Amino acid sequence: MSGLFITLEGPEGAGKSTNRDYIAARLRDAGKDVQLTREPGGTPLAERIRELLLAPSEEPMAVDTELLLMFAARAQHIEQVIRPALARGAVVLCDRFTDATYAYQGGGRGVPTERIAQLEAFVQGGLRPDLTLVFDLPVEVGLARAAARGRLDRFEQEARSFFEAVRQAYLARAAADPLRYQVIDASLPLAEVQARLHDSLPHWLERARG
Ligand SMILES: Nc1ncnc2c1ncn2[C@@H]1O[C@H](COP(=O)(O)OP(=O)(O)O)[C@@H](O)[C@H]1O
Ligand SMILES: [Mg+2]
Repeated sequence: MSGLFITLEGPEGAGKSTNRDYIAARLRDAGKDVQLTREPGGTPLAERIRELLLAPSEEPMAVDTELLLMFAARAQHIEQVIRPALARGAVVLCDRFTDATYAYQGGGRGVPTERIAQLEAFVQGGLRPDLTLVFDLPVEVGLARAAARGRLDRFEQEARSFFEAVRQAYLARAAADPLRYQVIDASLPLAEVQARLHDSLPHWLERARG
């Protein structure tokens, strides 16, 4: 595989989608073939699984159901979108990936890390992102931004303690592998976040290739 696999992570309202589009524009300016995508979802079938995952429902979703649906959607997305794009040499920019499973199902729901790691190996083989940008900000700031977007989905309706656990799980993963992860202060004004992305991206891309 000759492409580059970049993921954007962080809680609700951190600016992942906004900055994904910004980074895509910068990479396209530089002449790169960019594949924009997201999880859960990224293919028509995987987007249907996303709807199951995000829709608030009366029947509580079992933790293992949630975990397996995440990986079911991921298997589809990897086969249909990610691997083909990497094979043609594209930069894949994915809004959430398996770090979100470690953060939400692991940190938030308490699924043991080893169980997630088993599924990761089963579904992904050796596929891992080359670079993961973690957009970090205080929980209440992100939730306020997400709430301003409108109706809350099944995850956004969780308690504050859930999002604290999600945040800490992301930060712990980033600290454990500083070569792959870049933590971005997402509480700064958007123009400042993007100025930093603009300045740092070439360096990060270089490193991710090495
Ligand atoms: N650094 C920032 N400062 C203020 N508002 C921001 C910032 N980044 C994003 N936003 C706004 O917050 C909202 C959520 O951003 P979004 O990119 O959708 O976040 P995410 O995809 O991480 O949930 C949007 O309305 C966006 O314009
Ligand atoms: Mg988003």
